[in-house]
Amino acid sequence: MSEQLTNSQLLLRTVAMPADTNANGDIFGGWIMSQMDLAGGILAKKVSQGRTVTVAVDQIVFHRPVQVGDVVCCHGRVVRSGTTSVTIELQIWVNPILRDDEHQRLNVTSANFVYVAIDDHGQKRPLPRENQGLLAHAQLPAGSDEKQASASQGKAS
Ligand SMILES: CC(C)(COP(=O)(O)OP(=O)(O)OC[C@H]1O[C@@H](n2cnc3c(N)ncnc32)[C@H](O)[C@@H]1OP(=O)(O)O)[C@@H](O)C(=O)NCCC(=O)NCCS
Repeated sequence: MSEQLTNSQLLLRTVAMPADTNANGDIFGGWIMSQMDLAGGILAKKVSQGRTVTVAVDQIVFHRPVQVGDVVCCHGRVVRSGTTSVTIELQIWVNPILRDDEHQRLNVTSANFVYVAIDDHGQKRPLPRENQGLLAHAQLPAGSDEKQASASQGKAS
């Protein structure tokens, strides 16, 4: 996927550092995945109004390498909510600040992460009833009229 997700929000922005490189000098794929997990966890926590754990990740394909100094952005949106779980579609984009055209935005990867809401004992718990409104809120851009309308109707997709 090379187009930015509609109705996604910027969840995390960081810089790829030398400590995160593999033997080739490029950034580890595992580091990118951990950034996605962190980013999705932020949205999952907001939607679930509490603790969550990552229970599943679908296929991840890396389209291009990330290099030291690249600004790494993770965008995401909720694409499904169940009784206790929420699925968040995440996308990584980079700005290659230290090379080539620093105004470029390059898509690196995307994947669906599934989070389960848990209680203080690590057991699954139902998503809060007001979750439906939060889901709508989470998926729409700030300031959007649709956002307010959807949230007030408790609409989710
Ligand atoms: C997450 C956990 C609490 C779920 O407990 P459980 O009693 O096994 O729960 P269930 O099997 O009923 O699944 C709970 C929800 O997760 C979903 N789920 C479970 N496995 C899934 C999978 N492989 N893919 C997608 N969704 C999955 C279920 O569909 C269910 O969603 P719903 O309630 O919205 O319908 C438990 O499996 C756990 O603690 N796993 C470890 C999580 C963790 O430590 N993650 C970090 C890894 S280091």
